[in-house]
Amino acid sequence: MKPLSDRTDRLVQSDIRAISMLIREHGGINLGQGICDMPTPDPIKEGAKAAIDGDRSIYSHYAGIASLRDRIVDKARSFNGLPVAGPQEVMVSAGSTGAFMCAMLTLLDKGDEVILIEPFYGYHRNMLALLGIDMRFVTTRAPDWDIDFEALEAAITPRTKAIIVNTPGNPHGKVWTRPEFERLNELVQRHDLYVLTDEIYEHMIYDGGEHVSFGSIDGAYERTITISGFSKTFNMTGWRLGYCIAPEHLAAPMGLVNDLVYICAPTPLQYGVVAGLDMDEAYYTSMLADYTRKRDMMCDALTESGFIANRPQGAYYVLADYTALRERFEGFGDDQQAAHTLVKMAGVGAVAGRSFFRDPEDGKGFLRFCYAKKFEELERACAQLVDAFA
Ligand SMILES: Cc1ncc(COP(=O)(O)O)c(C=O)c1O
Repeated sequence: MKPLSDRTDRLVQSDIRAISMLIREHGGINLGQGICDMPTPDPIKEGAKAAIDGDRSIYSHYAGIASLRDRIVDKARSFNGLPVAGPQEVMVSAGSTGAFMCAMLTLLDKGDEVILIEPFYGYHRNMLALLGIDMRFVTTRAPDWDIDFEALEAAITPRTKAIIVNTPGNPHGKVWTRPEFERLNELVQRHDLYVLTDEIYEHMIYDGGEHVSFGSIDGAYERTITISGFSKTFNMTGWRLGYCIAPEHLAAPMGLVNDLVYICAPTPLQYGVVAGLDMDEAYYTSMLADYTRKRDMMCDALTESGFIANRPQGAYYVLADYTALRERFEGFGDDQQAAHTLVKMAGVGAVAGRSFFRDPEDGKGFLRFCYAKKFEELERACAQLVDAFA
């Protein structure tokens, strides 16, 4: 038979899924994948059920139903500080991943380069690989994951078209600051680059920190595609609803791409999310209080077990250094082996650090733990870690 497309050769099964399979075999607790299995808020479920019962089942506008786009405009102005002109600058898609794909298809051609800051979220790298886009990487290091702006500028070539920024970041919880964004803005203006931001964890910022959207920095909006979604905020990863916000010269062509690839996001579910965006501040405050407790529980258990687990500033992952465990236990030779050993000895799944770096050596000393779990389950996982390694 004739071969499959070149682009399928570049696809590999992610380590995250492989470890999930091993955990299922061993009956362990999965702190690997960012699945987030808490219940979806009732008003959202009720809203979606009413839409299904009301037969709101036809294709929606390709960029989303009007009431949802209006709510996103309000939220983007008040929460993100973005100078959004109106709903024509909002596109609802099949998850933030769908929005990202449309942004990439709209902006990038073969021969263009994109800069990724590592550790990165694997889908960003893999989507670019699927499209055959060349990437350059700027590495940041524990414990602060500070951006080296000289290295960032050095990575720019005449072919560079965009930089991808993820704040708060997966896998390390790094939160970009306003001064960092001001420096980034100066750089992208000078080199005429676009910025794609992934802000899916925007409501999970700890210790009084601030979420800053790059598009809110003076003059940055024109060249920014701000991407977010509802999967994490409302515990609905399987509903596949996300969106992006961009000036009309970018949003309009992205809408056409979204129409071709997805036609629209699931219509009745969009109605459900409208109810979610009407929930008051108390929802976010209580979610953050829960995640703060979970973060502390996770980091304390890891520290007690011998990991270096710095408290993340945002999102819901800890990228922990396990290398000190080598002195006391077999099976911690590298990150992949360590992930297997953790399942076998403690019944807990984590993701090998190499999944987040271009060079496996850079991630070799880390495991990523996701604490978006129900309290009881996280407590059990923490107890199992402490029993096995403390
Ligand atoms: C940084 C980041 N962006 C996007 C996603 C996926 O978002 P969605 O469900 O909206 O496609 C994830 C999920 O883990 C993520 O960690």
